[in-house]
Amino acid sequence: MFDFRPDPALGKPALYRELVGAAEALTQGEPDAVANMANVAALLWQVLPDCNWTGFYRMVAGELVLGPFMGRPACLRIALGQGVCGTAAATAKSQLVADVHAFPGHIACDAQSRSELVVPVLRDGQVIAVIDCDSPHLARFDAEDQAGLEEFARAIADRI
Ligand code: SME
Repeated sequence: MFDFRPDPALGKPALYRELVGAAEALTQGEPDAVANMANVAALLWQVLPDCNWTGFYRMVAGELVLGPFMGRPACLRIALGQGVCGTAAATAKSQLVADVHAFPGHIACDAQSRSELVVPVLRDGQVIAVIDCDSPHLARFDAEDQAGLEEFARAIADRI
């Protein structure tokens, strides 16, 4: 059993440092990518407040395919360049979207989502997946979330 309860008073940089440590501990020694993504998605869901979706899309044969996640069922495949996830994958750049309704081409998997942060996971310079976090609140994510989740993505890149 893995019991991880960060201090609710932690600021975001410290929270993400703890999250990175927890993800490393959770995936240590486990070679199965699906098992690791499943636990990492659950970890983000447990620890990040005010999210309605946390999880992965994986790069498979040139498009994004749904991976392990927490939240409502979501679209299965996303073409590169489409939506927030496809844009992150195509550009290899994080997408911090304060209002998804203002993002051209946003794909509404859950009508409750109002803001979104998508971070690419790179291995050997190639995008192998994206981590997607959605929130029902406008502007839920900021630059500290982006920096923290990017560090998180680097930490798990060899384990998914
Ligand atoms: N909103 C995303 C689609 C994935 S779901 O949010 C889980 C997008 O525009 O790429």
